Amino acid sequence: MARTNEELVAMAQHASLPNYRPPPFVLSEGRGCRVSDVEGNEYLDFSGGIAVLSVGHAHPKLAEAIGRQAARLMHTSNLFYNDRAIELAAQLVERTAFDRVYFANSGTEANEALIKLARRWHHEHGRPERVELVAAEKSFHGRTMGALTLTGQPKYHVGMGPLVGGVKHVPFGDLDAMRAAVGDTTAAVMLEPVQGEGGLVVPDPEYLRAVRALCDERGALLFFDEVQTGFGRTGTFMGAEHSGVVPDACSIAKGMGGGFPVGAILVREALADGLPPGAHASTFGGNPLACAAGLAVLSIFDEEGLVENARAMGDRLGAGLEELAAAHGCVSEARGLGLLRGVRLQGVDPLAVYARLRDQHKMLASIAGGDVLRFAPPLNVTAADIDEALERVGALLAEVSQPAAGLGAEVAP
Ligand SMILES: Cc1ncc(COP(=O)(O)O)c(C=O)c1O
Repeated sequence: MARTNEELVAMAQHASLPNYRPPPFVLSEGRGCRVSDVEGNEYLDFSGGIAVLSVGHAHPKLAEAIGRQAARLMHTSNLFYNDRAIELAAQLVERTAFDRVYFANSGTEANEALIKLARRWHHEHGRPERVELVAAEKSFHGRTMGALTLTGQPKYHVGMGPLVGGVKHVPFGDLDAMRAAVGDTTAAVMLEPVQGEGGLVVPDPEYLRAVRALCDERGALLFFDEVQTGFGRTGTFMGAEHSGVVPDACSIAKGMGGGFPVGAILVREALADGLPPGAHASTFGGNPLACAAGLAVLSIFDEEGLVENARAMGDRLGAGLEELAAAHGCVSEARGLGLLRGVRLQGVDPLAVYARLRDQHKMLASIAGGDVLRFAPPLNVTAADIDEALERVGALLAEVSQPAAGLGAEVAP
């Protein structure tokens, strides 16, 4: 007999480290924008696996491509070329402003590669003093030690020191602070085109253009972390396209495999000598199975026009959230770009609101920046799904605006 939510949660709590605190049900199936637990309870999934599910749950073409590749060639290691990685790299180069690709397995790993590339590239060019990295406050770049050091949120650093060193943080959007931080020892500046985990902070495109000019003037590299914003999430293939800025390199992951773990860095030709043979490697990076998933995602994007859909559905979601923000005092503003959207809550406990949306309205979202209820649905979300989501969020906000809502405190997702 199938196990219940309760039985499985008890097993999970027994055998897993307590670093996550998920709600007490166990997901086991998904299709498009919907997921259900082992007891058949269905949820409208606007958490999108934290902005990963670019083609929705269980897309038949992605599932088929992964199955076919698994039966053909799953792994080669980096000792050999494989046809899927070559094909995916060629497509990424063709679709972006970059010339070279290195494959990783996650966002944080891609960022580690960028950190190493920045330092090693300057070293190769006779500038060994250029080791410093400048990143933004409230940024998020991952949990491995280098990416963690870049992450401009002290709460993630607690008890993890000593950190990597050589990293300065400046307020996001503050050009004067950036000017004061970038100098003769700067290797690279790292920014997110939209701060995702920091609370969906969309910068003035002029700021990004000015940082580009500053980096050029001072001999520092500019990197964008597109782990969350890349692969159509903001309604353009890469988030950088909104500002027209071309960084020297960027990291991608999340939406790239549609749920299959894969990441990469995309690099301009001038930096290609920054990772000479032996300078960096990954056993699994560029694995044919992961690259087959990436190729399937790209072909689904083309066949179904998903970048365009992300823009159109993002506009619809954004307009609806603006209306809800105007109607409800517990929302201070609607934020975001494309299908990376949210509402900033005020005067209510964001975690309790998030939990109520899930438990009472059967809709999944996530919290960003502590007080932003974030929606990152699949890029193939339909207008009907968006309208349904807006209805559920509207009903939620109407309830939590009542003084008697009785929202209790919850633990962070
Ligand atoms: C902008 C950004 N960079 C890096 C990461 C880390 O990615 P991963 O969890 O795949 O290591 C995240 C994850 O949320 C992210 O949003």
